[in-house]
Amino acid sequence: MSETIPTVGRVPVLGSALEIGRDPFRFLEGAPEEYGPVFRVSIPGLSFVCYTDAELVERVLAGKSDRYRKDPREIDLLGDLLGDGLLTARGDDWERGREHVQPAFYPGRLREYGEDMLDRTAEELERWDDGEVIDAHGAATRLTLSIVATTMFGVDDVAETDAIAAAADAITSRFEPSRVPMEIPLWVPTPANRRYRNATDELDDVIGSILRRRRTSGDELNGGDSSDLCSALLSAGESGTLSDDEIRDHLVTMLLAGHETTAIALTYALGLLATHPDERERVLEEVRAVDELTPQTNLPRTDRVVRESLRLYPPTYMLFRQTTKPDTVSGYEVPAGTRVVLSQWAIHRSDRYYDDPLAFRPGRWTSEMRESLPEYAYFPFGGGARQCIGRRFALLELRLVLARILRSVRLEATPETELSPTPALTSRPEGPVWVRVRR
Ligand code: HEM
Repeated sequence: MSETIPTVGRVPVLGSALEIGRDPFRFLEGAPEEYGPVFRVSIPGLSFVCYTDAELVERVLAGKSDRYRKDPREIDLLGDLLGDGLLTARGDDWERGREHVQPAFYPGRLREYGEDMLDRTAEELERWDDGEVIDAHGAATRLTLSIVATTMFGVDDVAETDAIAAAADAITSRFEPSRVPMEIPLWVPTPANRRYRNATDELDDVIGSILRRRRTSGDELNGGDSSDLCSALLSAGESGTLSDDEIRDHLVTMLLAGHETTAIALTYALGLLATHPDERERVLEEVRAVDELTPQTNLPRTDRVVRESLRLYPPTYMLFRQTTKPDTVSGYEVPAGTRVVLSQWAIHRSDRYYDDPLAFRPGRWTSEMRESLPEYAYFPFGGGARQCIGRRFALLELRLVLARILRSVRLEATPETELSPTPALTSRPEGPVWVRVRR
């Protein structure tokens, strides 16, 4: 006989239900300890079962994944924008898409992208003056967007990058400061919906003109010097295996999935270093000791900062799945059709897996610690077949951008420096993250 899943949100634990609405991060933070490995959240407008055990995360993402699929509601929410791009595609469409996109992430390509990442960062640094207080989130977003535009689309035209940035900003703001889940249908003509529609039209125009240019310039097969995502997709289009709409969907997906998450990760890493001067100085020593910074430079301290920032502030803080068949987990029967949530925020901040879990301590990531940590106690990029395709790209970008910035400037906290994540689709900061630049 299986037990009834404990439910949060019913009297007598109504207080918790209010807390979920008011501050989901705080709720998730204490959830594994307070409610155990499996619990149901059931409040008006929101019902799901949350698994907070690393083995269960593995079961869903990598083990029993035939019993779990991406949550159709998430796909509905994003499908309008991303169509058959990788995030939202399913079945054969997804498999084919993954094959077409994969060449853009081969290791040889990544090394070349690394050079672009360093160049774009150097350009961004030129905008920062000594003593100036800058918004780290604004700067990180500008930078990650120009990196995706250069590496994936082969775009280095500032006006085009600015148009993409404006559209991307209007699109991401449709998903905030919405509570999870945000579900105002698109046909409701709210100002935000209208702005969103205009932004998607604008983005389609820019992408259309990039594709036309790449086709007519005849370099679609080699992207000028070498192949990039655009050229990989265009050549699949030439051979008739991808339609124009599918090419568009892949490009929009890569643009949005590829820049916002990385910008958030970079923002929190910069904010954490600014507010932890000892840690900052340790990394600074490492990156300034290097003669020449290249994509291959060994930077173990920087890598630990990246790892620890992604643990403490995972940009994707919840993954949504749905059971396709009943499953029994930790003695509980979870019926078919149940919405299941796996939360990085809950697991990465649990003292079941980490000592002093709320402290920013990059030094904790020793090789012994990594060996003893259950694999899915750390999953900022998800896992299994649907693991983030941009994982290596993002890790390379974060280490190179951080290292390049710290070689030139010290970022210091100001009395206004605050890292306040918003519970939108991602954990983006609520407002600007102010830091002072010291050259
Ligand atoms: C720190 C940065 C990033 C984080 C934290 C992140 C996180 C994630 C996560 C958690 C997933 C899995 C979603 C799920 O299973 O429901 C995912 C999927 C995906 N990510 Fe990332 N991502 C990052 C950077 C990137 C970059 C740089 C790109 C592309 C250039 C990218 C493209 C994608 C795509 C296309 C998928 C869908 C993969 C599939 O379903 O086959 N991401 N990402």
